[in-house]
Amino acid sequence: MREERLFRLGILGSGKGSNAAAIADACAAGAIPARVALVLSDVENAGILAQARERGVPSRFIPPGQFRTKLDEAAETAFLEALRQAEVDLVVLAGFMRILKGELLRAFAQKVVNIHPALLPAFPGLEAWKQALDYGAKMTGVTVHFVDQGIDTGPIIAQETVPVLPGDTPDSLHARIQEMERKVYPAVIGALARGRIRTQGRQTTWQPDPGKDT
Ligand code: GAR
Repeated sequence: MREERLFRLGILGSGKGSNAAAIADACAAGAIPARVALVLSDVENAGILAQARERGVPSRFIPPGQFRTKLDEAAETAFLEALRQAEVDLVVLAGFMRILKGELLRAFAQKVVNIHPALLPAFPGLEAWKQALDYGAKMTGVTVHFVDQGIDTGPIIAQETVPVLPGDTPDSLHARIQEMERKVYPAVIGALARGRIRTQGRQTTWQPDPGKDT
């Protein structure tokens, strides 16, 4: 009998890899019907690569090229080739700190998702938890969205709130946000792997979960 092909994830990250670890663990536990086919990083010694190695997930550092905030053309092509070779169905940005603009987004149209540590459209860009704290916001949160050509502007798939508490520091607030990220991101990726997310323009809708429909 032919084995059913599992939905394949390619995760890109530049940091410690707590989101990637949560996603890989949810796949291994069967909570997400998918497999992490490949982890790629633009940072040679990033924790995300160590997290992948510990779990026996194929991983690679790909040099980002000459720019600070984006991949240069050759690097974006190298990322794209690696994802294609790994037959990835969904590209998951998990703390990937470079903007994707070109070929990769065109090749994976509507198939690249990102997690942002704030309630978009508030506080896009870098260190969103610090932006929320400095602004005096009482509530911030987590957004998972499709990636388009803008910075943190693509259609929103899910959002959850996280309170800003008296005495919070950037680190304590980011830690509380990351706790929420580790719940929200695996849930969204599970829904995408099950084909439950529909998109029309900027509107995304969650279809009922066939497994929980009775
Ligand atoms: C996460 O908090 C993620 O939301 C943020 O980077 C962190 C990566 O943590 N992403 C951005 O700020 C993107 N603009 P991780 O490496 O432990 O998953």
